[in-house]
Amino acid sequence: MGMQDRVGMKDLDAIVGRAAAEFAAAADPAALENAKARFLGKSGALSAFRASLGSLSIEEKKSAGKSYNSAVEKIEAALEARRAELALAKMDARLAEEALDVTLPGRGRGRGGLHPISRSWRRIEEIFASIGFEIADGPEIETDWYNFTALNNPENHPARSMQDTFYVDLKDESREGAGLPLLLRTHTSPMQVRYARAWVERFRGAPKVPPIKVIATGRTYRVDSDATHSPMFHQVEGLWIGEDVSFADLKGVYTDFLQRFFESEELEVRFRPSYFPFTEPSAEIDLQFGSGPLKGHWLELSGAGQVHPQVVRNFGLDPERYMGFAFGSGLERLTMLRYGIDDLRLFFDGDLRFLRQFS
Ligand code: FA5
Repeated sequence: MGMQDRVGMKDLDAIVGRAAAEFAAAADPAALENAKARFLGKSGALSAFRASLGSLSIEEKKSAGKSYNSAVEKIEAALEARRAELALAKMDARLAEEALDVTLPGRGRGRGGLHPISRSWRRIEEIFASIGFEIADGPEIETDWYNFTALNNPENHPARSMQDTFYVDLKDESREGAGLPLLLRTHTSPMQVRYARAWVERFRGAPKVPPIKVIATGRTYRVDSDATHSPMFHQVEGLWIGEDVSFADLKGVYTDFLQRFFESEELEVRFRPSYFPFTEPSAEIDLQFGSGPLKGHWLELSGAGQVHPQVVRNFGLDPERYMGFAFGSGLERLTMLRYGIDDLRLFFDGDLRFLRQFS
């Protein structure tokens, strides 16, 4: 059987042509490898030609073998060329995908800002420090004794219900603690007692205890929630005790503080008679909104008063000799009035559109 009967020499050129066309049409490496199998594989287009070589004469074999080899070489060359093309195309696609436009402006770093409550906190400390007040702080988890009892607010006293709070599943094992549960402090007033007792202890045996003049700012907690009350809020406690500190000094110091805090001497401040177990007489201090949606509306800022003799005694001092005043103000309220904000919950929503206005 002559080779012309099977695959002829002319057919070889046709096969090479078809292979080149199919390789060129292969869109990805997998398609290309399939096409390769169709031409160079065991049962590919060239294998019948090669199988027929065996039956040829030596002379015929030589020339047919040459043609065969050259066809294989051409097909392999076309395959390699297409492989290289596809690899290049893949690289181009990846480069395009990962392209960096170095001319784009940078993103920059997000600049943080102080929360409006932190701004008030700093402002308050600056103002009071400038008139000789020490800055103190103390625990948010407090004992019943410091939060209530030492402030002349004994167990079962109805005034306790003015400050409903959150209890902690731990008991106070100290001498004063009487095994009562610990609680989240409802006000910063326990700091009056903590600070005063430590101060008095420092001057034990001295002929006289120098004036106590301190503010303590921090978080406080109550079961409260509406537009002017939040379950967590901040207070600043002020305490000034000496041999001749009076209610008149409270008015002077506090009004001066407000004028500096609000940067205005034309504030509408109101001292309204009130009741606290730890002060006598007691007042609530209100301020009127000067602008914003609540213009003209009064907002209570502080409780205040002359420290009750029993509390002075709990400080470790003789109330016949030492007296003074204390106040406790809400930082959220001060901040609302300063910026004309009508809902205190905005402070705790974490909405950047609100917070960015202060940075
Ligand atoms: C007290 O907490 C007293 N310890 C204040 C005091 C200190 C009186 C020293 C006398 C001597 P009162 O419960 O009124 O008082 O709270 C004081 C201020 O804290 C309020 O005027 C208000 O500005 C703020 N405040 C109270 N509860 C909340 C709350 N839930 N959310 C936001 N602010 C509050």
